Amino acid sequence: MHKAAITGHGVFTPSQIITNDELVAAFNAHADRWNAANADAIAAGEVEAKAHSSTDFITAASGIEQRHVLDKTGILDPDVMHPWLRERSDDEPGQMAEMALDACRAALDMAGVDPSDVDCVLCAASNHERAYPAIAVEIQELLGTGGFGFDMNVACSSATFGIQAATDMIRAGSISRALVVNPEICSAHLEWRDRDCHFIFGDVATAVLIERADLAKGPHFLIRSTRCATQFSNNIRNNNGFLRRTRKGHMEDRRDMQFMQNGRKVFKEVLPLVSKHIADHMEADGVEASDLKRLWLHQANKTMNDYIGKKVLGREPAPGEQPNILQDYANTSSAGSIIAFSKYSEDLGPGDLGLICSFGAGYSVGSVILERRG
Ligand code: COA
Repeated sequence: MHKAAITGHGVFTPSQIITNDELVAAFNAHADRWNAANADAIAAGEVEAKAHSSTDFITAASGIEQRHVLDKTGILDPDVMHPWLRERSDDEPGQMAEMALDACRAALDMAGVDPSDVDCVLCAASNHERAYPAIAVEIQELLGTGGFGFDMNVACSSATFGIQAATDMIRAGSISRALVVNPEICSAHLEWRDRDCHFIFGDVATAVLIERADLAKGPHFLIRSTRCATQFSNNIRNNNGFLRRTRKGHMEDRRDMQFMQNGRKVFKEVLPLVSKHIADHMEADGVEASDLKRLWLHQANKTMNDYIGKKVLGREPAPGEQPNILQDYANTSSAGSIIAFSKYSEDLGPGDLGLICSFGAGYSVGSVILERRG
C-alpha cells in the first residue's frame, strides 16, 4: 500500500472585512426598522420585538472579532441583510470555482507540482452553488488538471472527509495526486437578520495538495492515519434545496432554508463526541498526548476549542499549541481547521506530530494525524 502526504496548502482570503461593531450597527438598525414597521403587531402581542445585538456578547460567547466576506455592502445594508453576489452567465467561472483557484494554485506552487500532474480534484464544502456540473469539474477545467473531479458535502467536516477520501485513493493506487479544495461561501447561507447567529460565519477557500509520499519534492506532512464518524442530528440544519418551491414555482424565503442551529445543544452533544473521537483515533495510531506538537481544530467557538484542547492534551494547551483563527475569520465551516493548519504548521520540525480535527452538522467528526517529514 502507498503512503500519502500533504505537500502543499493554500488559503484564499476575501479582501472585505466586517468587524463586530459594523455588524452589530447594521443588525440594530435593521431591528429598529423592523420593530417600527411591526409596531402594531408588537403592541398587540402578536409578534415579539427584535432585541439589539451586542459586540460584547459576540466576542464573549464565540471569540469572533471579525469576518471576511465576498460582499459586505448587501450584508450591512439594513434593508438587504445578505451578500449581493452577482449572478454569472454560464460562460463565466462560477463564484466557488473562482475563489477555489487561488487556494489551489498556492498549494500547487508550494509543492512544485504542475496542474496537469494532478489526477483528482475534490471540491468538499458545506454549500455548493449548483448541483451539477460538479464545481470540482469546473475547477479541473480552469486549472488544467487531469483525471477527474467530484463534489462532496459533509458540512463542517467536508475537508477532513475529503482528505480521507483522497488519501484512500492514493493508498489504493488509483491516483497519485489530489487537490482537496474547500470554497466556503458561508455568508450566503447565513440569516443575517437572526440575532442568535448573525455573527457566526465568514467566507474563505482553502486547499491541500495530497501526493503519494514518495513523489514529494520537499518538506511535507505524512498522513499517518485518518478517521471519520457521523451520527444523525437535526441540531444544525439547512432546508434549502430543489424541493423547496412554492406552488407558483418560485423559491420560497423561509427561515429554515438558511442556517439553523440549536447552539447550546450542539455545544453539549458535540464536545464529548469529538473528545472521544480524537482519543480513540490517537490510541489506534499509537499516539500519546505528549507526542502531539499541534492541534488544528475546527473553528466555530473559542470556548469549545479550549475545552477540546485541554481534554486531548490533559492540560491547558501552551500558547501556539492549538492556534485559533476564528477571531479573524469567524466560522468558515470546513475550511476553518485547514486555515489553522495552513497558517501554523510550517515551523514544525522533522518527526513532529499534529492533528487536524473538524466537527459540525451531521453530526460529523473527522480527524487526520500528520507527521512532519523532510
Ligand atoms: N447579542 C446579544 N445577546 C444575544 C445575542 C446577540 N447577538 N444572541 C443571543 N443573545 C442572548 C440570548 O438571547 C440569550 O439571552 P437569555 O439568556 O436572556 O435568553 C443569551 O444571549 C444566551 O444565548 P445563547 O444562544 O444560549 O448563547 P450561547 O452562550 O449558547 O452562545 C453560540 C451562542 C452560538 C456562540 C454557542 O452556542 C455556540 O458556539 N455553539 C456551538 C456552535 C457550533 O459549533 N456550531 C457549529 C456550526 S457549523
